[in-house]
Amino acid sequence: MSIEYKINHPITADQFISLLADSTLGERRPIQDRDCMMGMISNSNLTVSAWDSEKLVGISRCMTDFHYACYLSDLAVSEKYQKLGIGKRLQILTQDQLGPRCKLILIAAPAANSYYEQIGFSNNPRCWVLERDASIHS
Ligand SMILES: CC(C)(COP(=O)(O)OP(=O)(O)OC[C@H]1O[C@@H](n2cnc3c(N)ncnc32)[C@H](O)[C@@H]1OP(=O)(O)O)[C@@H](O)C(=O)NCCC(=O)NCCS
Repeated sequence: MSIEYKINHPITADQFISLLADSTLGERRPIQDRDCMMGMISNSNLTVSAWDSEKLVGISRCMTDFHYACYLSDLAVSEKYQKLGIGKRLQILTQDQLGPRCKLILIAAPAANSYYEQIGFSNNPRCWVLERDASIHS
């Protein structure tokens, strides 16, 4: 299987939604709220995507200043393509786009909590999240 990786390649809201649904990350993202999903994909300033021909099969979606901090919001690989090294490659290519001081920051999904340690991340107990009212999107 030949997977092609692309930096900041255009991705439609429908492609993004399908990938998140296929990866299971869709259970933890507002995939029923198309406006929100469109805003998420169109306002990211760094995406690395994995393609099997025309099919989007993986994504690393970030907001970053490229110098100090990079928030990795979504890392997802379509279920049929998982455990083939695509997630790891997306990570490496994401890091390649960032300056040497730039930290990657993320909130792990429960099922992926041990994944990040394997690929070099350390746990930070001082991470804080301000939850907002999800009902405004429903
Ligand atoms: C987590 C995810 C992105 C990993 O992508 P992937 O392409 O399947 O991972 P890779 O093939 O690059 O795996 C690299 C290593 O991590 C391991 N690994 C993969 N998924 C793992 C998980 N969920 N938990 C622990 N280890 C995991 C692999 O076995 C592999 O180990 P190895 O190098 O010793 O063989 C992908 O499984 C996914 O999309 N999961 C559902 C969505 C999700 O939870 N995303 C993370 C949100 S924070």
